This record gives sequence, structure tokens and C-alpha cells, in this order.
Amino acid sequence: MLHLPRASIVLALAVGVVGQGILSPPPESRALQCVLTDAWPSGPGTPLLPQIPPADLQSIMRQVNPANINATIVKLVSFGTRNTLSSQTDPVRGIGAARDWIATQMRAYAAAARAGTTASVEVSGYEQQPANSIPFAVNISNVVGTIQGSEEPTRVYIITGHYDSRNSNVTNFEDDAPGADDDASGVAVAMELFRIMVKMAPPKATIMLGAVAGEEQGLFGSGFFAKQMKAAGMDVQGMFTNDIVGSSKADNGVVDAHSIRLFAQGIPSTATLAQSQARVSVGGENDSPARELARFVDSVASNAFTDMTVRVIYRLDRFLRGGDHRPFLEQGFPAARFTEPNENFAHQHQNVRVDPTTGVQFGDLIEFCDMNYIARVARVNAAAIWSLAQAPGTPKGVSIDTSQLTNNSTLKWTAGSSTSLAGYEIVWRPTTAFSWQAVVPVGLVSQATIALSKDDAIFGVRAVGKNGYRSPAAYPCANC
Ligand SMILES: *[C@@H]1O[C@H](CO)[C@@H](O)[C@H](O)[C@H]1NC(C)=O
Ligand SMILES: *[C@@H]1O[C@H](CO)[C@@H](O)[C@H](O)[C@H]1NC(C)=O
Ligand SMILES: *[C@@H]1O[C@H](CO)[C@@H](O)[C@H](O)[C@H]1NC(C)=O
Ligand SMILES: *[C@@H]1O[C@H](CO)[C@@H](O)[C@H](O)[C@H]1NC(C)=O
Ligand SMILES: *[C@@H]1O[C@H](CO)[C@@H](O)[C@H](O)[C@H]1NC(C)=O
Ligand SMILES: [Zn+2]
Repeated sequence: MLHLPRASIVLALAVGVVGQGILSPPPESRALQCVLTDAWPSGPGTPLLPQIPPADLQSIMRQVNPANINATIVKLVSFGTRNTLSSQTDPVRGIGAARDWIATQMRAYAAAARAGTTASVEVSGYEQQPANSIPFAVNISNVVGTIQGSEEPTRVYIITGHYDSRNSNVTNFEDDAPGADDDASGVAVAMELFRIMVKMAPPKATIMLGAVAGEEQGLFGSGFFAKQMKAAGMDVQGMFTNDIVGSSKADNGVVDAHSIRLFAQGIPSTATLAQSQARVSVGGENDSPARELARFVDSVASNAFTDMTVRVIYRLDRFLRGGDHRPFLEQGFPAARFTEPNENFAHQHQNVRVDPTTGVQFGDLIEFCDMNYIARVARVNAAAIWSLAQAPGTPKGVSIDTSQLTNNSTLKWTAGSSTSLAGYEIVWRPTTAFSWQAVVPVGLVSQATIALSKDDAIFGVRAVGKNGYRSPAAYPCANC
């Protein structure tokens, strides 16, 4: 007896399709969600409204400066090539010079940290032996700035870009590979946030902002970083790669300067077959930790303060491409990828050249970057990571009682011990909706019953800090 109005579904799809074709496309998930799910099912709680950025976060967003982002990209491009196989010792050309400049710059930021805020910069890595796309042994080095959490230093949130670049030939380490968009833009985002956030009072959990290498040859730097976090026992509750976040304009003339795609995987990479089956059997395939992280980013970052819409894509990555979030997913950490909405493939992984017949300029040149757009992307990232690090951690051990047939839903979780925890909220949405639609505050407890059937809705539990920041929701699935 399900009353999904069929006419509304058709209408919603039509809105989505029309929207794709003209002007700036609306986030398709949103367009669908409002029409599809209005008023069904009804249940307890109040409508869940997006979080307004608190004053500290607004201050961070205001400080993002497109001129700094431009200066960082200009400098990174000036190293000629940043191919991972290029010189590690030449002081002006190659990846070694880029690594040293990033480290020096980040250390200068750390040195200017606010009193009481612990900020440090580490260059760490390993010697990669010859492998596919790595013809000879090469050092892979990551430059990572850390702002230590004041209450839970081992709960960690990470943003990276990759500072290595490539041209048409992934092993060509001599010719120019400016890599302005791919991925000096992502590095500039991470560095700009480090510059600003070291000046704030320390967040409750640890923030890491870094530049990694070896992405183009096989995600080597990020793989090392993810394993390093796992080996150190860090509780990484969110990781984002910013990779190709520099341009708002595609070669077909489409301009979309106010949205950013966020790629988020469904069933986790690390799930066993039994865990995947358990997840699918309860309709939890759309509620992996990566998807909850993506919903969270949308809720804190699609707003007038960022002047951006986060377009969540239900997919690990684009076709034929990989990204630095994947190694984190493979270590069991929630992770997602930011990428501009309209990629221009003539500007990526291409030798710098003008096609003699068409006159088309190829190559990843800085002239194709939009610094104001990258600044908005940085504000989206700021909203995401600062909101995560100031909130209590995502609830753990969340399950739903399925021992009896009842008309209501009982959720249980492990109570957190942080002194800045104010309590918990149950959030829910119709199964077909993109985002959480209603919220029921339940207090500082570890169990709650909601008068709404678990058959008809999807539930989550989120933690609320005394400072008002909320965690991402955790989906109840004891055996996933
Ligand atoms: C970026 O910086 C360079 C070097 O200072 C300057 O020439 C250029 O105009 C700047 N571009 C933008 C978009 O600010
Ligand atoms: C990697 O760096 C170490 C330390 O600087 C150096 O001894 C080693 O030779 C480097 N390896 C390669 C392949 O360049
Ligand atoms: C790519 O570059 C490497 C290093 O310069 C060179 O050995 C190789 O022949 C190039 N491959 C192609 C297809 O041009
Ligand atoms: C569940 O709800 C239905 C419809 O409101 C009602 O008929 C039924 O008695 C309820 N069952 C229980 C166990 O409360
Ligand atoms: C849950 O359902 C049971 C059985 O229908 C009912 O007795 C109980 O009052 C309900 N609890 C809540 C909090 O709705
Ligand atoms: Zn890239």
C-alpha cells in the first residue's frame, strides 16, 4: 500500500532533464527529492534544516583569498614539470623543488599559528620500487600540515590535493606538465585552509591538510598516507581529495561556477561478501559511511556562505579515472572526491600545444583556472572539515532492533564520553530521498524508539555538540 504518486515522479524527472539542458543545471538529487517525497511518509520530529555556519566557520570562509590561491598555482606551475619521476634535487625545476617549496610555505604558515593552537608540517614518504608507470625507483613524498585536535587528537579529518603533474605521457619527466588545474588547484585549496585554520582556536578533532605525490602513476602517495594513518591507529572519520577543482568552464561553453561534484561510493570497498549482503538485505546500500559523509557536506556547504551547491554523485569516481580518496576507502575510512562540474579533457594529461588544424590550445595551463571559483571550492572544503572537526564524532555501534514485528523503530548505539557532547538526534528520510528530512532530539542516551515503521523510512543517529555542531549521521547496520 505504497502511495508514491506516479505523476510526481514523471514530473520530477522532466524537471531534471530540462534543467540539465539549459542554464545552470539544478542538483538533480534535490529536484527529485522535493517532488518525490513531499509528505510521505509522515512521522515524528521537525523538518531538518541545513546548518547555518557558526561565527568561527563564517570567519574562516571570509578569509579565503583568491589572490593567495592564484599565487600558489602560479608558483607550482613555475616548476615546469612536477612529474613524480622528475628531478628531486634540481632547485628550480621538477617535483623536488615543488615539494620543498610547499613544505617551506606550509612551515611558514605553521610558524604563524595562534598561541594555543598546535600546528606542524611533516614531509614523509618512501622509496617506490619500479612498477607499472614507474620505470625506476623513486622517492614519493607527501607534505602534510596537522592542526592537533584539542579534545580528541586521534579522531582525524583530512583534505589533500596532489602536487605531482603529467603531460600526455605519464612517464615523460622532462617536458612541461604545468598541472594548473590537475592538481595545483587542489593543493592550493589545502594550503589556503592550513594558512587560515592555524590562526583559529584549535578544533576538537585533528585536521590534516596536505599535498601528496605519485597520484598520476597509481595513487602512491595517498596509498602511503592512508596506510600510515591505519598503522598509527588513527580514527580517520572523513577524507576528501580535491582533484581538478580549478575551472568553471568546459570546452562546450558550459559555465557552472557555483557547483562542485562530490563523488561518493556506495557499498564500502572493504565490505566482505557477507557484509555487503547484510547491507543490501536491509536496503542500506545507499547509506555507506562515504554517502553519509557526502550528505553531511551537502548539508553544511550548499548555502549562501559558500555560494555553491554540492552535487553529490553516487559513484566512486568518474569512468576511466581514479583518485586519492580510493586508498582511504580501501583502509576502511569514509572518503570522497571533489571535482569541477565540467571537465575539459583537452586541458588534462596533455602536452602543451596548439593543434595546427583546429587552433585548439591543449594543456593544463593556468589561464583556464578561475581563482574565484577555486576560492568557493575552498569555502566548501572549509565548511566540511571545520564542521566535522568541531562536532562530536560520528556515533559508533549503531543498530536497529529487528527482533519483533512492530510499527515503530528502536535504535541503539554506543554512548560517547566526550565532555562536549550534548546529546543525540535521530534523523530520518523516506527511502527514496537524497537527504535527511526530519530530526528527533532524544537527549544524552544510547537508545531511542521512534513512532515510525523501520519498513518505510531510513534512520540515522547523529551526535550533537554543546557548541551546536552536529556529526554526520550513522546508519544502523550491525552486520555491515
Ligand atoms: C595571478 O598572479 C600573477 C602573478 O602575480 C598575475 O600576473 C595574475 O594576473 C594573477 N591572476 C589572477 C587571476 O589573479
Ligand atoms: C630517496 O631518498 C633518500 C634520502 O634522501 C636517498 O638516500 C635515496 O637515494 C633516495 N632514493 C631515490 C631512488 O632517489
Ligand atoms: C614517454 O616518456 C618516456 C621518458 O621520456 C620515454 O622513454 C617514452 O618513450 C615515452 N613514451 C612515448 C609513447 O612517447
Ligand atoms: C500497527 O499499525 C497499524 C495501523 O495503524 C495497526 O492497525 C496495528 O494494530 C499496529 N500494530 C501494532 C502491533 O501496534
Ligand atoms: C512501539 O510499538 C509497540 C507495539 O506496537 C507499542 O506497544 C509501543 O508503545 C510503541 N512505542 C513507541 C515509543 O511508540
Ligand atoms: Zn589529478
